[in-house]
Amino acid sequence: MSSQSPRGGGDAWSPAKHHFATRAVHAGLDPDPTYRSVIPPIHQTSTYAQRRPGEFVEDFDYSRTANPTRLALERALGELEGGRGVTFASGLAAEHALITVVCEAGSHIVLPADLYGGTYRLVDRVLSRWGLRYDLVDQTDLDAVQRAIRDDTRLIWIESPTNPRLALIDIQAIVARRRGALVAVDNTFATPANQRPLELGADFVVHSTTKYLGGHSDVVGGVVVTGDEHWHEQLRFVQNSVGAVPGPFDCFLVHRGLRTLHLRMAAHARSAAAVVELLRSDPNVSELSWPGFSGMVSFRHPRAVEIASATQLFTLAESLGGVESLIEVPQAMTHQSVEGSAAAVPADLVRLSCGVEEPADLVADLRRALG
Ligand SMILES: Cc1ncc(COP(=O)(O)O)c(C=O)c1O
Repeated sequence: MSSQSPRGGGDAWSPAKHHFATRAVHAGLDPDPTYRSVIPPIHQTSTYAQRRPGEFVEDFDYSRTANPTRLALERALGELEGGRGVTFASGLAAEHALITVVCEAGSHIVLPADLYGGTYRLVDRVLSRWGLRYDLVDQTDLDAVQRAIRDDTRLIWIESPTNPRLALIDIQAIVARRRGALVAVDNTFATPANQRPLELGADFVVHSTTKYLGGHSDVVGGVVVTGDEHWHEQLRFVQNSVGAVPGPFDCFLVHRGLRTLHLRMAAHARSAAAVVELLRSDPNVSELSWPGFSGMVSFRHPRAVEIASATQLFTLAESLGGVESLIEVPQAMTHQSVEGSAAAVPADLVRLSCGVEEPADLVADLRRALG
């Protein structure tokens, strides 16, 4: 919702004066100017009629360049993270755009030693062929982070909580040690309901909107948010030049998901708390990790594969952040691409994405599977 166009007849919308829950419900929603529909239409179009050559509304000349449904989502995501959003066809497309915007051949990146396997694969297998160099660092060790930052370090990539071990990283402390480097935070696991990295001094926030932001496991998407006008322009340029854009219906789905983000995140955390209580009482469970918010839980268990194959409510599947609970074994599933690297994960690690079902049912399902 732009500050010029109030929704009702009252004062103009001003996100800064509202709580997060209110912003989540209203972010990016201007009533449709034609019919005043409360939810704007899905602009399922590839192109726009021009009155005369080169005469079109704002920058809406072609939908790779701009689309109103996408713009509404970008405004919403920008509002919730405290910057300006640029959306992409997936989280990895967003990561690729950001890294190619800020880095060049010869640039050095500091990556977390515990990270999403696809991020590692993107840097190690794709971008390093174009001259990007990187180091993996345990970012819970601030001295190690400091040692890893070199004169040519262009970007420090943070995940917090990390995937899949769910360590919390001190974003502000890393920002304080950054020297000349830019700082990007993958906020997919925390969401802006729990953590807003731009307010902590980061330059960029990245999301796989496929996860908690969309929230219903029915769409793949990504976003980069920045508070810097120059970087926003550069990201828009690459979005249009490379063209990994999300379609209008996908944007609509993510935008609809945002409106219940605060409610879902609270329910995910309730489920996770109940599941963690059960896991704490199992003597075979070790390295149990839950950040205290969100629905992500990980633990080691000698029968990891059997447990993941035995649950009924927890579906054995990759991904996370939807309303339904999922279980996986990262080493065999989401993190295959880090096998053999310093970011490899143990084979007995289980990762849960606790959904918003009745927590007692989730606990009963897991108890049965644990045996
Ligand atoms: C933390 C994190 N970042 C980024 C991604 C990539 O997102 P996408 O699958 O939408 O490309 C994932 C996917 O699982 C993820 O878990």
